[in-house]
Amino acid sequence: MAMIKIGIVGVGTISELHLNAYRNNPDVQIHAVCDLNEARAKLTADKYGAAKIYTNYREMFAEAGIDAVSICTWNNTHEEIAVAAVQAGIDVLLEKPLTTTVESALRIEEAVNRSGQILQIGYVRRYDNNAQLVKQFTDLGEFGAFYYARASSIRRIGNPGGWFADRSRSGGGPVIDIGVHVVDLCWYLMGRPKVKSVSANTYYQLGNRSNVQHLAAYRAADYDATASSVEDMANALIRFEGGASLMLDASFTLHAKENKTTIQLYGDKGGVEVDPVLSFTTEKNNTILNTTPQTTHPGFHLDTAFQNEIDHFIECVQQRREPLSPVSDGVEIMRMLCGIYESAELGKEIVF
Ligand SMILES: NC(=O)c1ccc[n+]([C@@H]2O[C@H](COP(=O)([O-])OP(=O)(O)OC[C@H]3O[C@@H](n4cnc5c(N)ncnc54)[C@H](O)[C@@H]3O)[C@@H](O)[C@H]2O)c1
Repeated sequence: MAMIKIGIVGVGTISELHLNAYRNNPDVQIHAVCDLNEARAKLTADKYGAAKIYTNYREMFAEAGIDAVSICTWNNTHEEIAVAAVQAGIDVLLEKPLTTTVESALRIEEAVNRSGQILQIGYVRRYDNNAQLVKQFTDLGEFGAFYYARASSIRRIGNPGGWFADRSRSGGGPVIDIGVHVVDLCWYLMGRPKVKSVSANTYYQLGNRSNVQHLAAYRAADYDATASSVEDMANALIRFEGGASLMLDASFTLHAKENKTTIQLYGDKGGVEVDPVLSFTTEKNNTILNTTPQTTHPGFHLDTAFQNEIDHFIECVQQRREPLSPVSDGVEIMRMLCGIYESAELGKEIVF
């Protein structure tokens, strides 16, 4: 089978995980890189052996001869770049979140459907081995129907700064940046029910806490602590058609004792804790059983999940298959995320 020629737009912090995983895939040739920052693009091209370097993605799509592209840029650029790619006949792996508004999400979906190209969203949590194991047990009926989920993604000083903290480029703070992962995984495991309503609160109490020392944290490639127009924490109750509900809290900054991600789902036959450590809770012979599935990594494993995500994308490109995280899922997730911001702003529940 012919090698898949890959391009990357945006070679900042997260692109390294894409590039490392592409480099491990024997069917891939890393062919072109593009970044507004030319020096960064050159460094990356040298490191990963890409033949072509661009600062304009439209030129790259027109000239470079790539089959597929990873888009790893600011959230507010996802729509224009993804639409240009599919219109140029290029398949897309688009980093989360899909985009920053529901209208924009619908425009991307329309362009993808019209083009017939593949667009996979980088909901990397779905691609973790433990998440797929839970999906398998869920589909076999181990937990019955999930009616309640709790998703929590708490960082104490986790505002990555720069564009992440600038709402006009990010679309929001912890809800759209890290909340998206845990909301998506719960929703996916719950069987993707249609969202009915959202009630939420956002808080702007602590700012980015860039004064805090002695602790490492994720940072944008162009870290800048002065921007700070996003919420520092939020909570939400999401109701679904059929009666199931999801409770979320997510923070960039909070006076919490530790950073912690918790993902729990409860069904009528059993419960599952995906994070921080995989475990099942069931009932047998009038006895509650807590079970710890024996897997290589007891919790989420970033490198494995990224490798799985990239390998899946390449398979979908080769076999012209719909990916595990298609654009339509991104639209429904954007409804929830934007509903959270709208509800918090208006101070009332949003009914869809
Ligand atoms: N899946 C995950 O776990 C995960 C983690 C972090 C970030 N992300 C997502 O990845 C994306 C990038 O995040 P990051 O942390 O790498 O940010 P970053 O700031 O480190 O890197 C972004 C890069 O994109 C470049 N860029 C921006 N607009 C561009 C354009 N129009 N053309 C070419 N280059 C452009 C910037 O110059 C920068 O080098 C975001 O959408 C973010 O939400 C996903």
